[in-house]
Amino acid sequence: MDHADLRRRLLLAIGVVALPVAAHAFDSAEDAEVKQTVCIQGDFDTGCPDSADVERLREGDCPAVPEPGPGTLTNGVCCYEVVQGTCGMGCSCAHGRPMLRESRPLLAGLATTRWQDASLARPDLSGLNTLERGRLARFWASVGAHEHSSIAAFHRVALELLAHGAPEKLLAASQRAALDEARHARHAFTFASHFAGATIGPAALPLGATVDIATTLEALAVRTVREGCVEETMSLLAAERMLAESRDPAVRHVLSALVRDERRHVDLAWRTVRWAIDSGGRTVCDAVAVAFAEARAPVPTDAEPLSPRLAAWGAISDERLCHAAAAGLHALIRPVAAQLSA
Ligand SMILES: [Fe+2]
Ligand SMILES: [Fe+2]
Repeated sequence: MDHADLRRRLLLAIGVVALPVAAHAFDSAEDAEVKQTVCIQGDFDTGCPDSADVERLREGDCPAVPEPGPGTLTNGVCCYEVVQGTCGMGCSCAHGRPMLRESRPLLAGLATTRWQDASLARPDLSGLNTLERGRLARFWASVGAHEHSSIAAFHRVALELLAHGAPEKLLAASQRAALDEARHARHAFTFASHFAGATIGPAALPLGATVDIATTLEALAVRTVREGCVEETMSLLAAERMLAESRDPAVRHVLSALVRDERRHVDLAWRTVRWAIDSGGRTVCDAVAVAFAEARAPVPTDAEPLSPRLAAWGAISDERLCHAAAAGLHALIRPVAAQLSA
């Protein structure tokens, strides 16, 4: 599915039947400079401080490089143009919709647990040396860990929808999505084990004693924007890239089903935000707008090189997956998000 088709699908999910979004240069989006807008709420009645004086633009492990000069003041929020930071909710090119905790995916470690599907066709290993098999095993184990965390994310979605009186259709879709993510995790760990020649599965997910549940509709909408409309939509674009470049029949079979499922999950996220805005009105709409404005393009964190020839088995470098995701943020996600308040 190209960006234009996906854009049409997302617009339908938020109830925009016509296509009022100006034609974006989807074809050239991948070459676009990755700039972003970072918005900060505060006591800014008299104007925005100079970007050089805004500590938050540089703090933590997410440094951004702001354009010099004062920010733009809109409804008490100061916004700054920055060249992409190195972290934020898209810290790495995640797969699926991992549960985010303090903006980072909450992932289980790896263990020799039984998360494999005995009936699944296995990738062809001929032509792969030991190092390549190890690299593919680590790649697919990482996919599995992110899909495994996505199960938790959708269980939390279901609880939050219940807590805020959402329509049954949204609740049922979120429960189906959790089962989809379990299958994605199982398939990824099956491949990881096959490439490694050893059993690889997830250890326990370190959820801790409590799981944060959104107590307001605004908080529910903001989390849905971050985890679903941004993170999972970018993950879908990355998965589509993996499918497009894969050649192994078993890998293509798994990725085809995964992409099909993820499109439904992305629809669900955008439909959920539509419902939250329709239910909560202006305050939800404003919170959603700020969440989209704060969305960061992912930045590759791959420390381990990945040979381009491993794309035949679905493994694409973080750098290239992030490129696909970043292009989607600017050419697809933000333009569709603008229609939510139109
Ligand atoms: Fe998934
Ligand atoms: Fe998903």
